[in-house]
Amino acid sequence: MLLTLSKILTAEEVTRIRAEIDHATWEPGRGTAGAQAAALKNNEQLAHESAAMGAIRPIVLAALDRHATFFSATLPKRVFPPRVNRYQGASNHFGAHVDNAIRFAPHTGLRMRTDLSCTLFLAEPESYDGGELIIHDPGGSQAVKLAAGDAVIYPGTTLHEVAPVTRGARLACFLWIESMVRDNTRRELLFDLDRTIQSMRRVQGDDANTIALTGTYHNLLRMWADT
Ligand code: NI
Repeated sequence: MLLTLSKILTAEEVTRIRAEIDHATWEPGRGTAGAQAAALKNNEQLAHESAAMGAIRPIVLAALDRHATFFSATLPKRVFPPRVNRYQGASNHFGAHVDNAIRFAPHTGLRMRTDLSCTLFLAEPESYDGGELIIHDPGGSQAVKLAAGDAVIYPGTTLHEVAPVTRGARLACFLWIESMVRDNTRRELLFDLDRTIQSMRRVQGDDANTIALTGTYHNLLRMWADT
């Protein structure tokens, strides 16, 4: 499942992040790719230890934290420290690849499974040409290019690429999520159920059926979740 989340960041937060990025130094993106992906990866990233990344990371993590749909859809156990990348000029694309299954966070020793990938767009789509995130699955391919502050979430198992940027600069934040519910089908079923319950609550309040179905949701979550 591919899920678009609008307005993860407020316009003011996008502006603050862009101001940090404007003064930052970039490094080649190959450093954090696996050996195979490194050969396909041609972009730039902010250094993990940079002052800019230190300022941006908490803004993004707090924004994800307060977004109810992000929580319901991903059921996060751990969120990998967000990074920021840029595609422009000669460093302008990332060929088709599947992300490494396990990521190691710098310094902290954190080791986590990449159940879900998230790209949070930081540049307005009309400011650059190309740069679509293309997600391939057996049913076909989807090209995603969203407003600044919007995000897309897709399973870590997915073959994906970033199309060449031919004008302007594509700026984005990217991160991975290890979910409490590892299995995509189970997690998606819980997300569907939660959305139905929220819709029932809006229509009929917390009546006996809504309360019973909420119990079912939590009992499925209890059966499937690892905390
Ligand atoms: Ni990737």
